[in-house]
Amino acid sequence: MMGGLTEAAREAGRIMMDRDGLMISTKGTRENLATTADLKVERFLRARLPELVPGSSFVGEEDGRSGEGDLVWIVDPIDGTANYARDLKVSTVSIALRMNGETVAGVVYQPYTDEMFCARKGQGASLNGRAIHVSNRPLANSMFCTSWSAYKKERSPMCFRISERVLPLCEDIRRFGTAAYELSLLAEGRIDIFFEATLQPWDIAAGALIVREAGGVCGSLDGPESYDAEGPMIAANSRESFGAIRDIVEEEMGREGL
Ligand code: IPD
Ligand code: CA
Repeated sequence: MMGGLTEAAREAGRIMMDRDGLMISTKGTRENLATTADLKVERFLRARLPELVPGSSFVGEEDGRSGEGDLVWIVDPIDGTANYARDLKVSTVSIALRMNGETVAGVVYQPYTDEMFCARKGQGASLNGRAIHVSNRPLANSMFCTSWSAYKKERSPMCFRISERVLPLCEDIRRFGTAAYELSLLAEGRIDIFFEATLQPWDIAAGALIVREAGGVCGSLDGPESYDAEGPMIAANSRESFGAIRDIVEEEMGREGL
C-alpha cells in the first residue's frame, strides 16, 4: 500500500506544479485562498486513494467527505496554498490514513524539492526511503517554527506573545507556511520545536504521525500524544522542550480565556 501511496503523492505533486490556467479565489476570509490546482489535486486523490484500500472513504480540505466507514483518508491537496498562489515553491501534499480515528499511515510530499516523508504506525518514519529521527538539540539550540494565526487574526496577539517568550529561550524562529512540511522538518531534525494555535485535521494528520514515528513528541495542551483533531498543537524533539513550550502556551491561552 505504501508504494501506491507514495506514487499517488508524487503524481499529485506533478499536478500541483502545473500552473497552466491557474486561477485563485478566496474562501471565507481574504487571506484564505483556494486555487484551481487545490481542486485538481484533491479530485485526483479522491479518485485514486480509495482504490488503494478497499472500503476506505475520503475527507479533503476543499470538497469535504465522500463515503463512510472506519478507514478514512484525510487529505490536504496543497498545504501552503498562500505560498503556492505566490509561486514561493514551498508547498506540500499531505495524506493520512486513519483507522477508527487513529492515523496509521502518513505521507507529506514537497514536489519542489522532491522530498517524500513517510510514516507507518509502529514502523518509523523516512525521507525518500531513508530512516529519519528528530534532533537531540536542547531548547537553547532549537529552531522554532510557528505562525501567527493568519486565518483567525483575533488569536494573533496571543501567538505573538508566545513567540516573544519562546525566542529568548531558543536560537531563532522560522515560518515556512505549510504546517505539514514544518512537522516533517522537525521529524528529520532540521527544526526542533513547533506551535500553531489554529489547525485543521488535514494540516497535521500526516505530519503528526511522521513526528511521532521519528521519535518526537506531538500533542495539545493536555499533553503529548493527546492531539487528534484541530486547535492548538505543540510538537518538539523532546519531552523537556515540549513541556517548556506547553507551559508558555497554556499561560498565554489562559490569559485570553481560551
Ligand atoms: C495552512 C498552512 C499554514 C498554517 C495554517 C494552515 P493551507 O494550510 O499549513 O502553514 O499556518 O494554519 O491552515 O491553508 O495552506 O492549506
Ligand atoms: Ca490546503
